[in-house]
This record gives sequence, structure tokens and C-alpha cells, in this order.
Amino acid sequence: MAARPHIVRSVRLPEAVEARIAAEFDAPPPPDKPLDTDTLFRLAEKTHAEAMLVTHHAAINAEAAQRIPSTVKLVATVSVGLDHLDVAAITARGIAVSNTPDVLTDCNADLAMLLILATSRRAAEYTALVRAGWGRDLGMDEMLGQRVSGKTLGIVGMGRIGQAVARRARGFGTTVLYNNRRRLSPEKEEGATWVEHLDDMLPRCQIISLHLPGSDDTDGMVDAAFLAKLPKGAIFVNAARGRLVNEDALIDALRSGHLAGAGLDVCRNEPHPDPRLLELPNLFMTPHVGSATVETRTDMGMLALDNVAAVAAGKPPVTPVTA
Ligand code: DGY
Repeated sequence: MAARPHIVRSVRLPEAVEARIAAEFDAPPPPDKPLDTDTLFRLAEKTHAEAMLVTHHAAINAEAAQRIPSTVKLVATVSVGLDHLDVAAITARGIAVSNTPDVLTDCNADLAMLLILATSRRAAEYTALVRAGWGRDLGMDEMLGQRVSGKTLGIVGMGRIGQAVARRARGFGTTVLYNNRRRLSPEKEEGATWVEHLDDMLPRCQIISLHLPGSDDTDGMVDAAFLAKLPKGAIFVNAARGRLVNEDALIDALRSGHLAGAGLDVCRNEPHPDPRLLELPNLFMTPHVGSATVETRTDMGMLALDNVAAVAAGKPPVTPVTA
């Protein structure tokens, strides 16, 4: 690559990252709104870009991978998740792929805890009440939430983020179980107990939190059968990927009261959640903001640029992804 590598990006990045792009890279001005795949490719072609910084707005499936402009040597996603990229199809063209692991682990785990606490303590309903004027004292037995301490939290998927949630949950006095393909070494378990079979873990959990990637294997894994195995009154949390959940089943479980509440940062049809979800008082939802802090988004952008700089220097990416 050139001394000032030519890059394009699908979104405007935080200030410090944009400042580094201006100082070290040759790039068009930041887009006012996220670019879709075809617009990004056209821009890359026009500017002879050697690297593309992408987000889920500019998904690259197997077909699109064939159309990545020939100057591009690296697709650097500013995310840890890879479900918007067909990594095998991209790398088969000799184009490297990188992501931004680790730097967003703590923020995502914080958000999962926020969902656990907000849902258990009925934050959405309380906020709605206050915004409607409040107006009278609540009775001692009215609108009661659930205590988090003393409960059993089940973590489905004990990767970096699952481990960080376990670490935090211990501080809230919960017993933590986890289900993962394999048992982790004791230092990574964070005091949590491995349960080999999900079906054995679900009935033991008053709170369940998903931390799996979105893939064809995990698509719709949270269905009516999964939810029925949770005890009545359980809290369901998903800060991972919307496609893990069958939303018809989730809505049924929330309407019937089988679930006391759900805390979601993600849904299937982002950014247009199923309107039936939004009618549910026992849903607490945030708009896919697991990594949305100044510090973390800056770290993610900087890591993506470190990957570009490494490839520009003829080295492998710092955080490469392989199929
Ligand atoms: C990630 O990094 O995967 C976040 O969920 C943003 O998509």
C-alpha cells in the first residue's frame, strides 16, 4: 500500500479516529449517513481504496464478495461480530479480513448487566410512569420488581463477553451457570459452573443471558421449547444478536407472563423492531448500543486503523479473522 493508504469507511467514526484518518490516511470525507454495500464499493473503486472499514450497514455476502474492487487488500470490520461478512468468500479472493475483538468486551458486558437490572427492576414501566407525571404514591405491593441478588443467572455462550458478564454478576450476588460447547479452564470460568446440556441449565435459571454469535447454527435457537424450559417468571436478556430469537415465541412468553420480562439490545429486523414487541410493558429495549461509548467506539476505530496500517506495511492484520 501507499505511504498514506487509501481507505474508505461506511460510517463516520468518533472524533479521535477521524482525526487519525485525516493525519495518516487518504480518505474521502466521512459519510453523513451510513453507506450501503454498493455505495461503499463505488467509492472504493473511485478512490482506488486499499482497505475498506465496514460496519453491518455495508454487509458483504458471497455474491458481493465477488464485486469487491480489485485494489482492496483488507476488509476491516469495526465490530467484533462477523455475521454481516462472508469471511470465506472474501478471503478466497485473497483479501484479508480483520475485526475488533477485546476492546468492546467490557462495554458489552456492562450493557448486558444494564438489561438484567433494568428488566428485573421494571425500569421501562417506572420510567413511563414518571414521564406520565407520576402523581401518586405507589402502594407497598404495587409494581414490584425482582431482586437480582440470590438469583441464578444462566449464561449461554461463555466467550469473552460471557466471561465478563459472569465476572460482573458475581458482584451482584448471583449464582452463575454457563452453557458452552466445552468447559473453560478454571481461571476463565469466573466462578461460574459449567452445565454441559442447555436443557439441564434452563430450568435452573431465573435470569438467562445470551452471548453467542449470530450464525445459521444459532438462528432461532430461542424458540417456544427453549423458553418453556425456563421457570415461570424468568427474565430473558439478549445483547448478542437478534437472529438467535424466534420473536413470535418471545412475544407469546412475555404476553402470557411465563417470562416476567425481557431486556433486548438487538432484534431481528433492526432498526425496525416488530411493533408487537414495542407494545409490551415488560420489555426493556435499547437500540443495539452494546459498544456505544466514546471510549469503546474510539478503541474499535483505532484498532481497525491499526489493522489497515499493518497490512499497509506488508504485515498481517493485528486482529485477523479466518473462515
Ligand atoms: C459488534 O461489535 O459485533 C457489535 O454488536 C456491533 O455490531
